[in-house]
Amino acid sequence: MATFQPFDMERMMSKWENVVAYNLSESGVYPATIREFVDDPAVIEELLSTELNYPQANGIIELRERIAALYPGAAPDNVLVTVGCAEANFIALQTLLTPGDEMVMMLPNYMQIWGIAHNYGMRLHTFHLREERGWAPDLDELNDAVSEKTKLIAVCNPNNPTGYILTEEEMDVIVAAAARVGAWLLADEVYSGAERLTDTQTPSFWGRYDKVLAMGSLSKAYGLPGLRIGWVVGPVNTVDDIWARHEYTTISATMLSNKLASIALSPQVRPRLVQRARDYIRRGFPILEAWLESHQGVFTLIPPQAAAIAFPRYHLDVNSTRLVERLIHEKSVFIVPGDHFGLDHHLRISFGLPPHYLRAGLDRIHELMVELQ
Ligand SMILES: Cc1ncc(COP(=O)(O)O)c(C=O)c1O
Repeated sequence: MATFQPFDMERMMSKWENVVAYNLSESGVYPATIREFVDDPAVIEELLSTELNYPQANGIIELRERIAALYPGAAPDNVLVTVGCAEANFIALQTLLTPGDEMVMMLPNYMQIWGIAHNYGMRLHTFHLREERGWAPDLDELNDAVSEKTKLIAVCNPNNPTGYILTEEEMDVIVAAAARVGAWLLADEVYSGAERLTDTQTPSFWGRYDKVLAMGSLSKAYGLPGLRIGWVVGPVNTVDDIWARHEYTTISATMLSNKLASIALSPQVRPRLVQRARDYIRRGFPILEAWLESHQGVFTLIPPQAAAIAFPRYHLDVNSTRLVERLIHEKSVFIVPGDHFGLDHHLRISFGLPPHYLRAGLDRIHELMVELQ
């Protein structure tokens, strides 16, 4: 067994995000309260009468119907509800791969899949989003990395940490690479719906190829990370095999989360939550952009197309983890170091926050920037 690879970013987040005065590390928008989306007295009454039983283990039917409705051609049996997309990613990999299997992964990325691959002794090949191309993927590198041995290709779209959204043509090339060798395509799409520049939701890989697993969540585009509701949409038999792992990890998400998630995805509430997230993103980004520009020559940023995070490069002679540690201990503000994505001299900064809070956090980062220059 390989040496255990901790999930560096989540380790640091779990330790500091609720301790510092200003948490600018989250990739989703400022969380919603229950009050913000449960306001119908009849619905409140029904919630209060909920028996806190185990729910249907793969997700209550109403919730799976509502998730399925987001994916053309999907039915409730194509859906497994999990404890966050984190569980969905974990048990999907466990189902599809065994130690020694080869997979190809897009980088930079939320490094959960990378760490799982390492911990389970899978052979990992990578292809990159290139900063010099505005974070567009290097598809030649993808095609070189994919071979007859490739069992799975993992992508994240829209991407964490760059906020890049793949074009239709790029999606086609990725699907073709998977189809050429019969590999699974695992598409982590948790930021779909959190677009900054368009009201058109980022399309899913679902339906483009028969071996696609589309992963989703309420944590980012819906501002409900505390519900811990995620899902995987895929072929019925494969989803059932993944469900068999879910019985070992968590059995089910909670009954209350299932119910609240179902309300969140109802036709009345879902558009409100998506709009709320986009409002945070569109209000926050100009504040961060102006702040970055005010530090002349220090930052270069390719503006994110989606998600509540920006991933600027900084031109200072200091390591990103060291810089973030100083921010935590000296300024009580937390952002994510580029090191956690394998890209030193970058920082991931959230902006989907209330403006006064965002400005106050940025002021504290500014203080350290002045000391470093
Ligand atoms: C790309 C990506 N996938 C999955 C997750 C985990 O999300 P969840 O809160 O649904 O478990 C995150 C959280 O940051 C993420 O960025």
